[in-house]
Amino acid sequence: MAEPYYIDEDAGKDDDTAVGTLTAPYKTLLHAMKCHPPDLGPTTYTTKKVGPDGAAEWKPATESALKKARRLYDQHKRKEQKNAEVAIRERAEEVRRQRVLEEAKNVTLKEDASLPAPIRIRLDETDPSKITLGTADKPGTRVRVLGRVHRFRAQKDVIFITLKDGYGQMQVVFGGELIKTYAALTLTLETSLEIRGQLRELPPNAKAPLNRELHADFFTVIGAAVGGDKEAITNKVQAGGDPQTLLDQRHLVLRGDVLSSVMKVRAAVTRAFRQAYFETRCLEVTPPSMVQTQVEGGATLFAFPYYDQQGYLTQSSQLYLETCLASLGDVFCISPSFRAERSLTRRHLAEYMHIEAELDFITFDDLLVHIENVICRVIDLTFADPVTAGYIKELNPDFKPPSRPFKRMRYSDAIDWLNENKIEFDDEDLPEDHPERKRPHRFGDDIAEAAERRMTDILNVPIFLTHFPVEIKAFYMPKDPQDPRATESVDFLMPGVGEIVGGSMRISDYDELMAAYKRVGIDPTPYYWYSDQRRYGTSPHGGYGLGLERFLAWMCGRFTVRDCVLYPRFTNRCTP
Ligand code: 4AD
Repeated sequence: MAEPYYIDEDAGKDDDTAVGTLTAPYKTLLHAMKCHPPDLGPTTYTTKKVGPDGAAEWKPATESALKKARRLYDQHKRKEQKNAEVAIRERAEEVRRQRVLEEAKNVTLKEDASLPAPIRIRLDETDPSKITLGTADKPGTRVRVLGRVHRFRAQKDVIFITLKDGYGQMQVVFGGELIKTYAALTLTLETSLEIRGQLRELPPNAKAPLNRELHADFFTVIGAAVGGDKEAITNKVQAGGDPQTLLDQRHLVLRGDVLSSVMKVRAAVTRAFRQAYFETRCLEVTPPSMVQTQVEGGATLFAFPYYDQQGYLTQSSQLYLETCLASLGDVFCISPSFRAERSLTRRHLAEYMHIEAELDFITFDDLLVHIENVICRVIDLTFADPVTAGYIKELNPDFKPPSRPFKRMRYSDAIDWLNENKIEFDDEDLPEDHPERKRPHRFGDDIAEAAERRMTDILNVPIFLTHFPVEIKAFYMPKDPQDPRATESVDFLMPGVGEIVGGSMRISDYDELMAAYKRVGIDPTPYYWYSDQRRYGTSPHGGYGLGLERFLAWMCGRFTVRDCVLYPRFTNRCTP
């Protein structure tokens, strides 16, 4: 009889080091069967048994153990067989595909010269004076479109392509000779194409953008997009993928529906602000970005060498806007502001788009009314455009415009509200176990982002939070005539996002401004041009700044401001 195969459940191995001998036994019976199939002839499997005295004994495997292992082994064999069949089929399919591709290289499309000359349209164009939709037996307008493949689905006799061009999307149908071409057979997402064909109505129950589809009769590839396991866009960027990778591949993420929609809403909102300011007779100006003065405290200044001196990137154009009032009337600007923020929060960027306005001869109440009017007008104008309204509906189906008038709340009342609602002040400057680390809020505390957001989310309405204490606000803010501890200042808070606007009246008295510089330790010398406004015909005036990305995060329902800007800049990220 042939030598048996040895199985030792304790010391054996089911890998390449085992050969089934006494010195190199297998670990399991199943593995022994895989290496020495029982159906190839009489085979003995010997297993090690340890007796009550601890001595090892080798005995043939029991009937029941053999039966169980045999069942598993048969299962394993069936699976292997199936895999082998699949592999054969796949190989045959690959050979067939290669043959088809080789043949496809010989297929050259020729445009049918008898067809009418096409008109060039963008993918969102519907002008009925130019475009008619045909059916299978009635010709529609022959058009020429240029765009990139956003999606495609290949069926046996037809390829459906969703083409995009930044203006819209169009369903395109390739059939006949077109799908026999090498280009069609190797089509990849993002490939740029020129397509000519006839526009037709959709068959009943079908769905496609603008309820139409282009039946292509001719196409050319302008630039094929890289494909394959490593390079295809869908493998490089995936929804919910690693955030750092997605930021590195931001240029490809921008090809997707979500970010491109937000960018379109951003353009529409920016346009709406310009329109709203135009309607209220605010004049647009463009202040410098390179400056030598600070507005919102030295801690967040980005410094850079400016020839032989030190320059800063502007934190806010406010001071410059104030200098325009006397000769230009009310003014606004839409310019980037820069903040060297250390915190990686979801509402801070190092570079953001700052929409700022400055109004002359006003009261604090006028300022609040103006902010409310502008915000509501911008929302109305944005939604008046059905295309933009459609993007917002996709991005943020639950968006509701805020009801008016906006809630107003003094800072001192907010402190009471926080304490009544047991939302504590968390002094992050103190160690975790310090008794004062968490305590009730007190007048003078800078309400932290988390507490502010909880309050806004619980109240669940937009809030004008006003009259912040002098100590926590910028040097230029005047005191409240009713309460000298407080300033005539306002933050506008939105549920889900928090502060989107910061504004105030400005100190209009020269001596008071000098005292304010002194209080915060600013040398007034380089600010002479700002202080002079108080010497050459001063006026009660005020203004505000609104962070466009925060406004968009609120409107488009995005979790972070980073999703509302083309290429976000924040701590340690300045690429791509
Ligand atoms: O409250 P802030 O700091 O106010 C000013 O800069 C005033 N000088 C503006 C003025 O009165 N003209 O900033 C105003 C707004 C904030 O409410 C917020 O929306 C936005 O600017 N903001 C930021 N957005 C993104 N990232 C940051 N790091 C931001 N810092 C401020």
